[in-house]
Amino acid sequence: MSVNPVKEGLFAPRETAPAGVGDPTVAVGAPVAGARPGIPRRLVLRWGLWGMILALLAQWGVQFIGFFWPKKVGAFGGVITAGNVDDYQVGDVKRINEGKFYLSRVPEGFLALWWKCPHLGCTVPWVPDAPSLDTIEPKGKFNCPCHGSQYDRYGQIIQGPAPRPMDMFPITIEGGKIRVKTGTAIQRVKADHQKDPVKP
Ligand code: FES
Repeated sequence: MSVNPVKEGLFAPRETAPAGVGDPTVAVGAPVAGARPGIPRRLVLRWGLWGMILALLAQWGVQFIGFFWPKKVGAFGGVITAGNVDDYQVGDVKRINEGKFYLSRVPEGFLALWWKCPHLGCTVPWVPDAPSLDTIEPKGKFNCPCHGSQYDRYGQIIQGPAPRPMDMFPITIEGGKIRVKTGTAIQRVKADHQKDPVKP
């Protein structure tokens, strides 16, 4: 006849047979001396202790992962999705508020132009009904209201005191999605119609 081993673990108390158990003289179903109903207090305390330890470990784990997780996705300074390639026609200029840039589609590809004026930092508006400064469309230009710098769809300074073209943000296009990395602006001496635009 096999004998049950004594069980002891982190979540279960030592099991010892109460007096009377296994005694053939004690009738089945009769009350057993020393048997305690319910969950022992020591076991409850042990569960509570382990629960606290696990909760602490979980909290540290979340903080550890959060430390390495990029926080600026979808906000200025991070990567912004500016829609799909098919959303834009050649000549379109769309303001992307969360990235503080304009996405400009020119015949050679896409440009993400930071709206901060390279002169003294004013926000440069796109004026869609003004006469164009490029040959792509008859209308539309960037016109800084502070000191009158004007730029074409490539961000090239055409007129005014700005010392260089509008700065650009790097673009990647994957699966038709346009993503713009707004953490670092690219400064240019002169707009290059071949090298600056990112091809779809
Ligand atoms: S800040 Fe734009 S022209 Fe001066």
